[in-house]
Amino acid sequence: MKIKDAQKEFLHYTEEYRSLGTSCLLKIHHTFRVMNLCETIAKSLNLKKKDVEIAKLCGLLHDIGRFEQWRNFSSFDDSSTVDHANLGVEVLEKDDYWKSYFTDESIKKTVFNSIRYHNKYSVPSDLSERDQMFCNIVRDADKIDILYLYTRKEIHVDTENQAFSPKVYQCLMMESQINREDKKNKADWLAISLGFLFGINYEESLRILMKNDYYNKEIDIYQEETNNLELKEQLENFRQKVKVYRKG
Ligand SMILES: [Fe+2]
Repeated sequence: MKIKDAQKEFLHYTEEYRSLGTSCLLKIHHTFRVMNLCETIAKSLNLKKKDVEIAKLCGLLHDIGRFEQWRNFSSFDDSSTVDHANLGVEVLEKDDYWKSYFTDESIKKTVFNSIRYHNKYSVPSDLSERDQMFCNIVRDADKIDILYLYTRKEIHVDTENQAFSPKVYQCLMMESQINREDKKNKADWLAISLGFLFGINYEESLRILMKNDYYNKEIDIYQEETNNLELKEQLENFRQKVKVYRKG
């Protein structure tokens, strides 16, 4: 497996989707940033060179389902369309397309698991430790880049001047990730991104988030934007949580 060739194939595959609009182009950029973050995290874990390459491959392919999702639904909303992670695995399975990215069949299960579980609430505990690790690397990298996109306003939530709903806010204060199913209003979308913090797996990921100050930047944007005093206060309380948060 040569990661350079895999990147070339990815660019070739996504070529035709570029004409569908900027949304697909943004996903291509997201993909390459996630791939690079996977490399950084994998290196921080002192993985062997070959495993660093596998981590990059997982990052490169994690969102491959996004393009067919957009072509079919013009939407990236999984809840009203299709689970893009499962779709990604289907895309690679079809006509053995995965062979255009790597030929080593022994890593297929690992790569597919990292794609399938990158967007799920948690990683199944019956996966091998090694597979769980690659899943967790991709999940961290993806979360970091999503938070970056919030600070760039490339992802933006209209909170409709609402505050976080009680259960969702309680989750944040108890330092737990938020389950998408608990979302009650538009502001809760924002809470989900903040709750990513508690799903971060690796010290290096946390270091990247803190170094870039993504949380303070995101909180600043929404505090400034909302007129809802309760939301302003909830955001401030979360800011304080971030300040002292240490991975358990
Ligand atoms: Fe994704």
